[in-house]
Amino acid sequence: MHFPLSAAPDVRICPSQRKVDRLIMDITVYEFEQLADFIYRKTGIHYEAKKMYYLSKRIEKRMDSLGIDSSIEYIRFLRYSDADGQELQHFINLITVNETFFFRDFPQLRSFAEHSLPEVIARKSTGNDNKLRIWSAGCSTGEEPYTLAIILKEMLDFSSLWDIEILASDIDLNVLEKAKRAVFSERSIKEVPHEYLEKYFEPSGSDTYQLIDDELKEMIRFEHLNLFDKTELRKHRGYDFVFCRNVLIYFDDASRKEVVDHFYVALNRGGYIYMGSCESAGRITTAFKIKRAGDALVYLKE
Ligand SMILES: C[S@@+](CC[C@H](N)C(=O)[O-])C[C@H]1O[C@@H](n2cnc3c(N)ncnc32)[C@H](O)[C@@H]1O
Repeated sequence: MHFPLSAAPDVRICPSQRKVDRLIMDITVYEFEQLADFIYRKTGIHYEAKKMYYLSKRIEKRMDSLGIDSSIEYIRFLRYSDADGQELQHFINLITVNETFFFRDFPQLRSFAEHSLPEVIARKSTGNDNKLRIWSAGCSTGEEPYTLAIILKEMLDFSSLWDIEILASDIDLNVLEKAKRAVFSERSIKEVPHEYLEKYFEPSGSDTYQLIDDELKEMIRFEHLNLFDKTELRKHRGYDFVFCRNVLIYFDDASRKEVVDHFYVALNRGGYIYMGSCESAGRITTAFKIKRAGDALVYLKE
């Protein structure tokens, strides 16, 4: 097994706390509250008052495309005239935060590669179980699931003997389309260890890189999925690993707990959940056993 011991410096990005200029906002506090409440009930994403400017700019974009000129009219349209949810989807595509890159949080991935993955593989091998199921929940433009696919290919001696599926899901349809194209910016690949860059990517166009390994692509199944849709979530079971990193930071405690409780059910016994370095499953629920594995804390379903 081989996992590179060094990578470009670890960059941990926590949500920005920047203050905004409240004087240039175009929606009223009442409109913001209406909209924030609507988004929360549909997605679990919690918009605090400091995000009012951000949301206001996003609404403007949609109002321009629809020829609507008052925000309250747009909110009414979302609420009462969007029976098939098409406008809601357009709006969601605009308001999600999609920041991601390959090999994000390298110490955590190394812990997965060198500790949790070999443990699960060893247990499955003795039980003649060759199925490995991983879920990248909130996968954005695909860097996380493709990173996991690279790690699996590098770490599993006979990866072809394993029946591997990485479910990569997101609520935003635009990012899923990009993920399927597998073309990435320089910024996206900046943490990819050099030897993997040479092996799995090819320069394509100006400052972009195409992921070229079909075996990696075949491991991944993309799915449009709202983590706040209980009915859909209940259909997901049998995972050995859930990666839900830098997604629930945009939720509040109640919606976070709801989703993590679902992940607990979705995981097999002996399975692990990975959250971002600013987040902690232990703060949300006591259901998981916390273990130190290498440089990271990991959360195990016993
Ligand atoms: C900041 S990105 C994180 C990407 C990747 N997991 C990482 O750590 O690099 C957060 C992603 O979560 C998705 N997301 C937010 N709310 C969601 C929800 N309710 N259901 C599914 N995906 C959601 C967003 O669309 C976005 O692409």
